[in-house]
Amino acid sequence: MPIRPIVRAGTKSLATPSELVKEFGTQFLYDLLEDMKDTMKHLNGVGIAAPQIGVNLRMVIFGFDKNARYPNKEPVPFTVLINPEVEFLSDEMESEWEGCLSVPGLRGLVPRYKKLKYSGYDIEGNFFSRKVKDFHARVVQHELDHINGNLYIQRIEDMRDFGFEEELMKRLSQ
Ligand code: NI
Repeated sequence: MPIRPIVRAGTKSLATPSELVKEFGTQFLYDLLEDMKDTMKHLNGVGIAAPQIGVNLRMVIFGFDKNARYPNKEPVPFTVLINPEVEFLSDEMESEWEGCLSVPGLRGLVPRYKKLKYSGYDIEGNFFSRKVKDFHARVVQHELDHINGNLYIQRIEDMRDFGFEEELMKRLSQ
């Protein structure tokens, strides 16, 4: 199945809360999953949400062994997560540089909860839940923002910590 064009910041589908998936195991969902996977891999993403390819459904995927955009991060198992719910397990937060396929070339310093429990459904409609921390927890929070019609940019506390990846790299290596 094809690599789909990524929807960029400013497009309505990214600013619109997505709807619950009501039917599981359908050909439509399998096709959507293949398109999301192909698009994510093509762009070296660590995750992607359905609204990023213009489909306003509460479905996200994420996971990688090694990733060129986040080279120092521990692996996250490949996961299909539909109709997710999140519960934060502590008040502890951490700020790290984050990017998004819908905001190409840019990064921002974003505070996120460090520990959370997420639950939801796989593509067949099987319920599951996991307790995670650190980068895995960050990725889940980032993708959840997408299905709620939000972008990471809104969470940057100081807009001086937002900019082009190339420039930030120079600044951080000084
Ligand atoms: Ni994103």
